Amino acid sequence: MTLVLQKHVSLKPFNTFGVDVRARLFADAHDDQEVKEGIAAAMQEDLPLLVIGGGSNLLLSRDVDALVLRMASRGVRILADDGIRVCVEAEAGEVWDALVRWTLEQGLAGLENLSLIPGTVGAAPMQNIGAYGVELKDVFDSLVALDRQTGALREFSLAECAFAYRDSLFKREPGRWVILRVRFALSRQAPLHLDYGPVRQRLADEGISDPTPADVARVICAIRREKLPDPAQLGNAGSFFKNPLVPASLAERLRGEYSDLVAYPQADGLVKLAAGWLIDKAGWKGFRDGPAGVHAQQALVLVNYGGASGQQLLGLAERIRDDIRQRFGVELEMEPNLY
Ligand code: EPU
Repeated sequence: MTLVLQKHVSLKPFNTFGVDVRARLFADAHDDQEVKEGIAAAMQEDLPLLVIGGGSNLLLSRDVDALVLRMASRGVRILADDGIRVCVEAEAGEVWDALVRWTLEQGLAGLENLSLIPGTVGAAPMQNIGAYGVELKDVFDSLVALDRQTGALREFSLAECAFAYRDSLFKREPGRWVILRVRFALSRQAPLHLDYGPVRQRLADEGISDPTPADVARVICAIRREKLPDPAQLGNAGSFFKNPLVPASLAERLRGEYSDLVAYPQADGLVKLAAGWLIDKAGWKGFRDGPAGVHAQQALVLVNYGGASGQQLLGLAERIRDDIRQRFGVELEMEPNLY
């Protein structure tokens, strides 16, 4: 196919915050060839290239003086199947949750805990998406990316992606790699991950003692729908801050002050705190400043009640960060990519 370039396109439909800024140039890339054409067009126009997926982890604070290339490639296929272990490959532009549902329909386990996460397949490895005790790295086989510097395709193994909590090589080298397709290591017999209390509780409430992957997916969808706003109804980008990692001494000091502190000790000696708890404790939950606000059910999610600019959302985020630093001595880090 041949890339179709459009000028001065509103990005409102292409970011889940629903922020209305314009891109100097915009195009959908349906295949590898169109991605290469997009890179060449940006070079020719002397513009930076901004590659986006579902726009669900993006805060646009100004007009984008760049060529915005939206990954629109489609296709899901089984690459290998030994009767138990199954390798599934999906193109970057596939909608993440549609892939999850497709794998469950094939009787494949692995992605059920990652149900209903907004965004696309190609964006998932960028920040190593995770929820309810599973991260992308746990079900990852390999991926194919295009090196924007050389134009060559390269395959990445699990180790090469250097996945960490909401982090990867691709996030650390922004602008270098365009993820084209991702392969997942799934199974017809994988054990389920039920370590997240509310998931276990909900299954028990429903009287399910021997859940299937589809049961887990259904319960997780229900939990997410209760806590997290649907971007189609209320603009948001999921968790706005990462859960911060702090020294054990700070966690202990805070525990002395707040007996209900939510803290998860890590293998490396650091302690992960629940940013949602900190923001909630500081009284921000449900706070609203004009069209920008903090979600009433989950303090970790900033929302656009309609017409908020990226600057307004960013301004609110800065106020929260300052307050959390002063109150608890904890530095919050933004999760969405800022443009
Ligand atoms: N909490 C509060 N008040 C709040 C929110 C949370 O007190 O307003 C407390 C909860 O009671 C709980 C703890 O904080 O004890 C953690 O909350 P929750 O289990 O809801 O998870 P989270 O840490 O807020 C993380 C991910 C989510 C993921 C959930 C479930 C990050 C930044 N966020 O949220 O991911 O769905 O766990 O696994 O790690 C996303 O990345 O966009 C996202 C939604």
